Amino acid sequence: MRMVDLIQKKKDGSKLTEEEIHFIIQGYVKEEIPDYQMSALMMAICFKGLDKEETAYLTKEMMYSGDIIDLSQINGIKVDKHSTGGVGDKTSLVLAPLVAACHVPVAKMSGRGLGHTGGTLDKLESIPHLSIDMSEEQFIKQVNDIQIAIMGQNGHLVPADKKMYALRDVTATVACIPLIASSIMSKKLAAGSDTILLDVKYGEGAFMKTKEDAKELARTMIEIGKSLGRDTRAIISNMNQPLGNAIGNSLEVKEAIETLNGNGPSDLLELCLIAGSHMLMQAHMSDNLIQARKMLQETIDNKKAIHKLKEMVKAQGGDETYIENPQKFKEAKEIIEVKSTSFGYIKDLHALTLGLVSMKLGGGRETKDDSIDYSVGLVLNKKISDYCKKGETLVYVHTNKGLSYELKEQILDAFVFSQDPVQKPSLIDDIFI
Ligand code: URA
Repeated sequence: MRMVDLIQKKKDGSKLTEEEIHFIIQGYVKEEIPDYQMSALMMAICFKGLDKEETAYLTKEMMYSGDIIDLSQINGIKVDKHSTGGVGDKTSLVLAPLVAACHVPVAKMSGRGLGHTGGTLDKLESIPHLSIDMSEEQFIKQVNDIQIAIMGQNGHLVPADKKMYALRDVTATVACIPLIASSIMSKKLAAGSDTILLDVKYGEGAFMKTKEDAKELARTMIEIGKSLGRDTRAIISNMNQPLGNAIGNSLEVKEAIETLNGNGPSDLLELCLIAGSHMLMQAHMSDNLIQARKMLQETIDNKKAIHKLKEMVKAQGGDETYIENPQKFKEAKEIIEVKSTSFGYIKDLHALTLGLVSMKLGGGRETKDDSIDYSVGLVLNKKISDYCKKGETLVYVHTNKGLSYELKEQILDAFVFSQDPVQKPSLIDDIFI
């Protein structure tokens, strides 16, 4: 087999076989196939696509390119959840303890943030001393002991994706549904849980800009999951405005704590209750969504969910007193109010702009090696459909380096006003089972 012939075959729009995809991924990981040939193939895939079978073969080959986590020593049906990422998306910090408090084992591997979207690991690490590094044995033991662990992705998981993603990033081949689907699902499948709940976000602050693309990505990932024997479901959710009010690492952890204490923003709570209900069904803990939602709500009301987060923080070496006392989190030097220069109903709220402002304040990474300032970020005082008077506060900016004229203007421009009342946007557009 020759790589050049396979590139030509895909360029002509023909279907690649399982053996050919095996040859490509094996050869690429072993560095027998060079980056330039892999780039050409991925560009051909961007133009000609992959069908269901090719996408499943590709995912399987990528998944088996490195370690596979064996979670069979954990009792019960293990559930995992993945969000395609957004601004202010602290869902995992709420959802994982909620579901674990219902006695469902949550064995979650998470990633770091890059660009305008934050990562669960960075948020967790804003809790002093908390470690996300653990061995597979420690991970399994912790889930068996307390039903919950969140760790960083093992370095030997899906090396094919690591190489391919780095190449896609510099060859304009990231935005391609079969390549995104195989990248995400190979990692989720290698991480070993029995079920996967996907939160596929669309909108300005998300990877997928349109609802239609988000649905296509969700369907593709569900087909991959099912073809490999995992119960996979997907929620299609709106990321045209940030989720909740807080953007930035410790600010988001504090909002997650408020939510687990029953005082969080309604959109974040709603998304967690809906996602969690499906996860309880996937774990066979409930046979209907209404009952599942009640079970989750009870863990908030009886404080079992917040206790579960505390248990996890303690088990991972973190200072759990921060969960009891969130005012212990180090505050940024200044909190600057950005006040509205217009009045009316908020019609649009540009999530991407606000995510980038938070990153520029030091709350996110522009490049992989940047360090993070956990205390900075934004807290929104107004969201879509709210009425705002001239001079009212739109955003509280938590900053250690003041607020430049440019960033303030960007924040003001992120809010678009209407003189007519505006409806609250839908949060969840569809759920695929
Ligand atoms: N996230 C991933 O893990 N892979 C992609 O290709 C895109 C987003």
